[in-house]
Amino acid sequence: MSAARPRVALTRLLPEPVLGTLRERYEVRLPADGKAMRTEAIRDACYWADALCPTVTDALDATFFQTLDRSRLRTRLLANFGVGFNHIDLPAAANLGISVSNTPGVLTDATADLTMALILMCARRAGEGERALRAGQWRGWQPTALMGRDVTGARLGIVGMGRIGQAVAVRARFGFSMSVRYFSRTPLPAPRAQALGAVSVDSLQQLIENSDFVSLHCPSTAQTRHLINAQTLGYFAPDSYLINTARGDIVDEAALAQALQDGRLAGAGLDVYEHEPQVHPGLGESSRAVLLPHLGSATIQTRRAMAGLVARNLQAFFDGQPLPNPVAA
Ligand code: DGY
Repeated sequence: MSAARPRVALTRLLPEPVLGTLRERYEVRLPADGKAMRTEAIRDACYWADALCPTVTDALDATFFQTLDRSRLRTRLLANFGVGFNHIDLPAAANLGISVSNTPGVLTDATADLTMALILMCARRAGEGERALRAGQWRGWQPTALMGRDVTGARLGIVGMGRIGQAVAVRARFGFSMSVRYFSRTPLPAPRAQALGAVSVDSLQQLIENSDFVSLHCPSTAQTRHLINAQTLGYFAPDSYLINTARGDIVDEAALAQALQDGRLAGAGLDVYEHEPQVHPGLGESSRAVLLPHLGSATIQTRRAMAGLVARNLQAFFDGQPLPNPVAA
């Protein structure tokens, strides 16, 4: 008789060909409706599976772990599909002896590309223009219609200079001749900063006051929650823009909606939201906001690579090897 195969539960379908590979290697449980497991099904999966593969939309928070029946718990690994892990209460998982891995690195370029898309869409009023055209409101070219602002040569302020922040700096500096400043907990080593042409500043206020575009690339933590709020929105110049491809809760959405309505900044390009998939109604109503549905990593190549990292972490876990991408509590 052959040994039982390890059990792996996926809260969402993962891209092929990785899903097929997982099915060959493991006994795989998928969402019953073929789309997404709800909390109850995820809890149940933790009693059935040796490893669970959640993703960034699954709230594995303190309440989730508190309500798990320890005596039935089988899962020992959360192999997260996504680099962000703010949806997982890491200390609570560690407390139950559950390890966590993520998918860093492989989505850096896709997210940086989308950041540039948002900068361009905001500056060139591309969303407004497309909406007008589709609504049959375009009356032809006019010298003064939908005038935006130049991106080339503008000043970019980056908040958080990790992998994605640096990839944005490269695109901005060398693709669009932008001057790049950044504000980060950990300043870059001097040679790296020099190579990127990026100058560190001492405060968020200084960064915002001296930027035409402020782009967020810090993780979501207790310290960064609502970093952009009514007070810090007051530092923006009326012709400047906020861009967020990091995490929604870094921005106080209600305060941003009000600031846009008051014309305190020229616009905002957002890919992430405080309460996804809900979007603050004030943002939806604002013609100054460009709103994308969390597309940062959404390319075929990137999503496959993310799934590949999930598979590598599963493999290492079942082989008793160190996880390639562990996330420390
Ligand atoms: C992540 O991996 O954290 C991203 O937000 C998904 O696009």
